Amino acid sequence: MGKVFYISRRTGIVVIVAAAAVIIIALTVVYAQKSRNEVKPVNDTEVWKNYRLPTSLAPVYYNVTLWPRLVMDANGMYIFTGHSGAAFTCVNETDLILIHSNKLNFTLTRGGHHAMLRGLSGAKAPAIKKTWLEVETQYLVVQLSEKLQVGSTYWLYTEFRGELADDLHGFYRSEYVEDGVKKVVATTQMEPTDARKAFPCFDEPAMKAVFHMTLIHPLDTVALANVIQRNIMFWPQHLKVLQTQFEPTEKMSTYLLAFVVSDFISIKTPAEAKVLIRIYARRKAIEAGQGEYALNITGRILDFFQNYYNSKYPLRKSDQIALPDFSAGAMENWGLITYREAALLYDPSMSSNGDKEAVSTVISHELAHMWFGNLVTMKWWNDLWLNEGFATYVSYLGVNDAQPTWNMKDLMVLEEVHKAFAVDALPYSHPLSSREEEVNTPTQINALFNSITYSKGAAVLRMLSGFLSEPVFVSGLSAYLKQFPYGNTVYSDLWGKLQEVISKTELWRLKLPASVTEIMNRWILQMGYPVVTIDTQTGRISQKHFLLDSESEPDRPSVYNYQWFVPIKWMKSGTAMGQHWLLEKTATHEPMRTNSEWVLANVNVSGFYRVNYDSQNWQRLISQLTSDHSVIPVINRAQIVDDVFNLARAKIINITVALSATRYLSEEREYMPWGSTIKNLDYFFQMFHRTEVYGAMEEYLRGKVQPLFNYFKTITADWTEIPSSHTDQYNQVNAISFGCRTGVEGCVNLTKTWYRQWMENPDKNPIHPNLKMPVYCNAIAAGGVEEWEFGWKMYKNSSSATEADKLMYALSCTKTPWLLKRYLDYAFDPDLIRKQDAPFVIVYIANNVVGQSLAWDFIREHVFEYGGSSPLFGRLILSVTNRFSTELELNQLQQFKKETAAAGFGSVLGLDQAIETTKANMKWVAENKEQVMRWLSEELA
Ligand code: BES
Ligand code: ZN
Repeated sequence: MGKVFYISRRTGIVVIVAAAAVIIIALTVVYAQKSRNEVKPVNDTEVWKNYRLPTSLAPVYYNVTLWPRLVMDANGMYIFTGHSGAAFTCVNETDLILIHSNKLNFTLTRGGHHAMLRGLSGAKAPAIKKTWLEVETQYLVVQLSEKLQVGSTYWLYTEFRGELADDLHGFYRSEYVEDGVKKVVATTQMEPTDARKAFPCFDEPAMKAVFHMTLIHPLDTVALANVIQRNIMFWPQHLKVLQTQFEPTEKMSTYLLAFVVSDFISIKTPAEAKVLIRIYARRKAIEAGQGEYALNITGRILDFFQNYYNSKYPLRKSDQIALPDFSAGAMENWGLITYREAALLYDPSMSSNGDKEAVSTVISHELAHMWFGNLVTMKWWNDLWLNEGFATYVSYLGVNDAQPTWNMKDLMVLEEVHKAFAVDALPYSHPLSSREEEVNTPTQINALFNSITYSKGAAVLRMLSGFLSEPVFVSGLSAYLKQFPYGNTVYSDLWGKLQEVISKTELWRLKLPASVTEIMNRWILQMGYPVVTIDTQTGRISQKHFLLDSESEPDRPSVYNYQWFVPIKWMKSGTAMGQHWLLEKTATHEPMRTNSEWVLANVNVSGFYRVNYDSQNWQRLISQLTSDHSVIPVINRAQIVDDVFNLARAKIINITVALSATRYLSEEREYMPWGSTIKNLDYFFQMFHRTEVYGAMEEYLRGKVQPLFNYFKTITADWTEIPSSHTDQYNQVNAISFGCRTGVEGCVNLTKTWYRQWMENPDKNPIHPNLKMPVYCNAIAAGGVEEWEFGWKMYKNSSSATEADKLMYALSCTKTPWLLKRYLDYAFDPDLIRKQDAPFVIVYIANNVVGQSLAWDFIREHVFEYGGSSPLFGRLILSVTNRFSTELELNQLQQFKKETAAAGFGSVLGLDQAIETTKANMKWVAENKEQVMRWLSEELA
């Protein structure tokens, strides 16, 4: 299958996305610092040195007017101007007003202050003594001559200007060209801490308020915000611009605000629809029908969630807008969801089934937030996992409802659970939930947008819903939403509601071994997860913290001693046997099978753990796979592969057991086991690519994938049709990409022929969208300059974001060093590659064997220029060095560490982790090379 690596700006590193050339939330290896976030004592005298707001003031509402200029000013800058009033109540006596503000220039009052203060409803405002900006903690500080009155409400008024930069954060600009004309869009990305870049505000999620927005904008543009427009008129001060005033918002958090000024057009639901749904995008994209799919499924999924949560969507409209420049994949602003184009726009003639799934999943994820996140919001960012993990979990349910044949609930295992297994087995992982005091600075907050938060969050919620049963989970959930609308919560509020539902009803029959809190806290307050070892003959069951590198130590101690309450569903030779809870380190069950039987635990991977067995049981499972694999559920076939490879990496079982589990693949036609295998073999490809093992491995795997390749060739009538099921479509892509990779006869030629045909007739692309990624990639890899230049031209001319993403990926497949080097240079020229895409290109290049050293050189060369503080750079290091496994490479890394340390930013680069990984790789190769070679030779003999 074509692989796509996505790096999220915020979170760094790589993720392998299904056949889609799309976003999909990437989220990284947890790249957190080696030590936990230090907890700085609160500064009581200079309160403005603290990153957290004092609790003395509570915002009530804001009146904000903003005027973005969509043309450059005389200084060559794009700017916006604005004024804002914030009404707030004094809760505790204070003579200090702290309000967030970042990169704003204020108009000073006659008295020389940044702001004016008034009392509301008869309150008398004290005089302002002094105002200043605290750059580090991003405050506007207002010191008063007297104290504010508890219970009184005040009005803080400011006038300011800011830059409408192309930096993708706060109030920023996005540019595109239409019919040769450059267009500028003003848009926002506030989460987590950039609303303060647009206007002064109490920029914390629990500081909810009502917002009255007004936007000033050019005549030929439309202004959008979270809620519907109240009126649009010529701006009285200046008749050449419009003023759009919006209805007041719901009581909401600042990070969910959004406003956009653009010349986009839209499609919408018919007038009789209960909720107005509109899809906005560039005129050309809408005219080409690229918004239709999103419009169709949004209504469906919105209805699904209203039912699921048993709670009405509280707004009158739901706008979704596709932006040419956008840092994340999408953002759940309440009522105005913003997307990168490839995450919202779908063109049946251009986009693959993977793109379609991606669009559906992103929409579903963001709609899920309208309740979980927007209506009820986490009190502070330390509970981000609840927000994002939850949306990730239920997004699959939403898509499953809209596309019931896609098998989304199963795919969640491959797409989230396996991702979480991978990152959470590292010693520098972190618990899902952090303590509130550990998360303070914007950098610390941003670091939480990672795969632990998203994928492990989803995985443990899936487990919870599994052992409670979905109906119990759902009623707890809706009780929770009923209790806290427009409010803020911590995770224990959810546990509490679930417990209430369990206790109140007959559901005590669930026979839980402990309370929700006792069970779940073990999964969220300690990092990692267990490997459960079952001796099927004696019935002895035990658990142990699973670490990929058997010699590593977890970075931190755990209050629960790295033990979990583990729900174990099992089956015996194909028959379901029920559930058992493992609460201890070791427990004894009665013997589980007779001699001819096998035991399989963690049926459907409903629990977040790996399973190991006595070697006889492994042998039986493996022979069952060979004789009739269909007796073992598909998800578990994928899981067995993932478990054996990882247990072997951790030296818990022998590598030959893992390899034996791949023997049956010549009979396997299902996507999930193949997907899991290909992902796990990646490490083998990386480690052995320069050794003789590579040749043998290629030959062995070719033998396994050849039947799959032939199968798809046959059922698609010689590649002229597309299989009907979603997962078969994915597996067809696997057959081609893995087939070409291992040298299946005719594979590369097939891709070359198709690509050639396209080059000869550029207006008529003969390649089916599903197959474009592996076809473009292999054809460009096998071709030369001409193929590359054609791909580049098509990339630049493409009117479809999904198509452009596929080409962007394929261009990194060339084997010609200078082309790769030039492509790498392009990635740093925003006129050639959009800023939002640059990180992808670098990682794609680094993942190419030929490109990897180029990317590594590039990083070393430019690190000083871009600075060690660039989060992007740091996070690239791990992926650029992921093949490192030799002494020489280790030395280079250590040398690089010295140089960057001397410059003062060694530690931010993730170099320690790269060094650890390289050492582990060297050891792994040394220990396994011979054995793997021997096993392969015997297999091939
Ligand atoms: N709230 C996030 C967007 C976000 C991500 C804001 C990082 C700030 C920093 C949104 O709900 C989200 O999770 N988007 C994902 C897509 C989703 C399908 C997983 C993204 O953008 O990666
Ligand atoms: Zn989200």
